Amino acid sequence: MEVVHTITELRTRIREYRRINDQSVGFVPTMGYLHEGHASLLRKAREQSGLVVLSIFVNPLQFGPGEDFERYPRNTERDLELAEASGVDLVFMPDVKEMYPSANRTIVSVEGVTARLCGASRPGHFDGVATVVSKLFHIVQPDQAFFGLKDAQQIAVIEQMVFDLNLDVEIVPCPILREADGLAMSSRNVYLSKEEREQALVLSQSLMQAKAFVESNRLFTSEQLISKVSRHIETAPLAVIDYVEVLSYPSLEPLEAVSSSDDDTIIIALAVKFGKTRLIDNLILQVRK
Ligand code: PAF
Repeated sequence: MEVVHTITELRTRIREYRRINDQSVGFVPTMGYLHEGHASLLRKAREQSGLVVLSIFVNPLQFGPGEDFERYPRNTERDLELAEASGVDLVFMPDVKEMYPSANRTIVSVEGVTARLCGASRPGHFDGVATVVSKLFHIVQPDQAFFGLKDAQQIAVIEQMVFDLNLDVEIVPCPILREADGLAMSSRNVYLSKEEREQALVLSQSLMQAKAFVESNRLFTSEQLISKVSRHIETAPLAVIDYVEVLSYPSLEPLEAVSSSDDDTIIIALAVKFGKTRLIDNLILQVRK
């Protein structure tokens, strides 16, 4: 495994690889502080690609004022160990100056799918994500890029961007990885106190209850599902709900009667704060007609 810090070095390595190999380049973009969820993306990339490229870059552009950019957890040594064990060939670890040498005057902004959920509660967040992912795609030029479905809206945004800008990359969505007790894996889980960590279990529990409800009811409204999920989350005294929404997926449009969804696939998405830590989770379900 090789670690490079500049765009020029990375491009040179990938060009050399492509010159002698007729195999695909798989790419896993991350902000580091890697956990088993990232490892599952890397393993999938390893299975499907000739060259596996991992980027580790905490992207300032996707953090709003007062968010956790400064304190976002970082542990390069552990990240590199996990990367090596997961079969990564090339790690790209640029600093902020390398990615943004001057004030960014070109922003990639995806409309529609960013109107709700984190797009509404974190203004500018997805402009930051789409801009950095677009830059990384241009730098790496991967055949496939692997993203976790915990950030399901992020995947919808990136798929829309890839479609609209005719980018030649296949987006591979990968399942959410959970701890044994159900908490979705996230680099931000490290912020949680013992009490917050225990109470955060209401998130996955509420989604499991929603799943059971959907499976046993043919006709129901979004409101019914939202109130079921919210009521369970509110049993945790430390939980402060940012949003609970039921939308079509991947178009992320509101639904009145859930069974009227055109594309048959719905997402129950939530963001909840425990103290200063904001957690997201979701469930994507096929709806029976
Ligand atoms: O999902 C993430 O870790 C980030 O949003 C990404 C895709 C690496 C862009 O900075």
